[in-house]
Amino acid sequence: MDKISIIRPDDWHLHLRDTPYLQKVVEHTARQFGRAIIMPNLQPPIRNCSDAGAYRQRILDALSATSSFEPLMTLYLTDHTSVEEITKASQSDFIFGAKLYPAGATTNSDAGVTNLRHIYPALEAMQKHGLILQIHGEATATEIDIFDREKQFIEQSLLVIRKDFPQLRIVFEHITTADAVDYVSLGDEYIAATITPHHLLINRNAMLVGGIQPHHYCLPVAKRESHRQALVKAATDGSNRFFAGTDSAPHARGAKESACGCAGIYSAFSAIELYAEVFEQAQDFSNFEAFMSINGPGFYGLEVNHGSIELEKTSWMVPDSLDYTNDQLIPFKAGETLSWKLVDHD
Ligand code: DOR
Ligand code: ZN
Repeated sequence: MDKISIIRPDDWHLHLRDTPYLQKVVEHTARQFGRAIIMPNLQPPIRNCSDAGAYRQRILDALSATSSFEPLMTLYLTDHTSVEEITKASQSDFIFGAKLYPAGATTNSDAGVTNLRHIYPALEAMQKHGLILQIHGEATATEIDIFDREKQFIEQSLLVIRKDFPQLRIVFEHITTADAVDYVSLGDEYIAATITPHHLLINRNAMLVGGIQPHHYCLPVAKRESHRQALVKAATDGSNRFFAGTDSAPHARGAKESACGCAGIYSAFSAIELYAEVFEQAQDFSNFEAFMSINGPGFYGLEVNHGSIELEKTSWMVPDSLDYTNDQLIPFKAGETLSWKLVDHD
């Protein structure tokens, strides 16, 4: 097999930042994907429908005139998110969810939720109106080991949310553990999960062996190899509960290569090829299209995209760096060879 054609895929978890950085990254995603769920953790965050609408317009303005890429917007939940705002969001035709960042869990999460009880009215309204909850699932108490934070979140918070809001549709974002795979696999149709290309391709050694590798630092951090293998199985096995969400998160090289480097891996440049690499390693492309293009729209209640993309089996090297305003952006797998390449059609 040296060519694959699939329905145009979507990225169900993406960070685009804002002007002028947005302009440097958005086309990378738009040339591969039909739509993407856009994360709201800007500074300040996207907390209401009016800010989401303005941000959406900036994204559309940054695209080339011929692009049909559609940004699917989300709201950032805070302790003060009102039922009115959630109701408005669920009635809008461009907002597709609201994101729970436990305060302090990750980049730009300071304005996030300090206590789940504070968002119970918002969650109730989301359940009622069918607005999807996206979750950064990591417990934040300082005493919890960073490698246990996802598992702890399931036990301390996710079980509680699911018990109290059994018909709230939830996407457990960027899962990194066998525990999360099991939890989602055994759940009902109200829960699904996204998996990133980096958590499918690297384990924690890539971050810590041979020196600290800041370009492999993200949150949740990559876990041990057995967890990576569980993620690969979940992605390639054909369960409709799992789908692609890159969590591509651009940070300038200077901010990553720092005494306190920030979290985020930039995978958007070659996202589809990175996912193809995972299926190549598993030697089974039978569920590639489902994972990339069908399961996500199914969970979000949307049609699959029109049109298709084509990949061909050919070795190529990911560039060492990309231009990022006054700095550089280091793409995931920079300088390494991938075995599938997106065929560009005019
Ligand atoms: O690594 C990450 N980077 N994880 C997140 O949850 C946020 C993201 C970012 O915004 O940079
Ligand atoms: Zn993210």
